[in-house]
Amino acid sequence: IYYERPLKSILEFLEEHSTELEKKKAAIFIVCFAVVFGSLVRWHIQNHYIKPLMERIPGEVIDTLVLRGGIGNVSEDEIGKAKRWAIGLLDF
Ligand SMILES: Cc1cc2nc3c(=O)[nH]c(=O)nc-3n(C[C@H](O)[C@H](O)[C@H](O)COP(=O)(O)O)c2cc1C
Repeated sequence: IYYERPLKSILEFLEEHSTELEKKKAAIFIVCFAVVFGSLVRWHIQNHYIKPLMERIPGEVIDTLVLRGGIGNVSEDEIGKAKRWAIGLLDF
């Protein structure tokens, strides 16, 4: 997430591949800083960060994950979380 929205390139990718995505199961993860503010920003993350992605995915979205990023590298903890989440998706 940059400047309160997903990258334009990602949104454009989803729009360009809309037809193919209809037939696929999708899972969304985002990396943002705001998640450190916990429940105070849950609505904001859902509506400003995840919703624009959801709206451009015509097929089934099986899960979403919000990871904590900052300025610089994403922590090993968050990378581990992403790996476990990705493995769990294989059951869908
Ligand atoms: C220029 C810039 C703008 C950012 N804007 C936001 C923002 O609006 N909201 C947020 O939660 N995080 C924001 N972040 C934090 C990023 O989402 C986080 O650093 C993430 O790890 C960036 O992804 P990348 O590591 O793939 O570049 C921003 C970071 C940068 C460098």
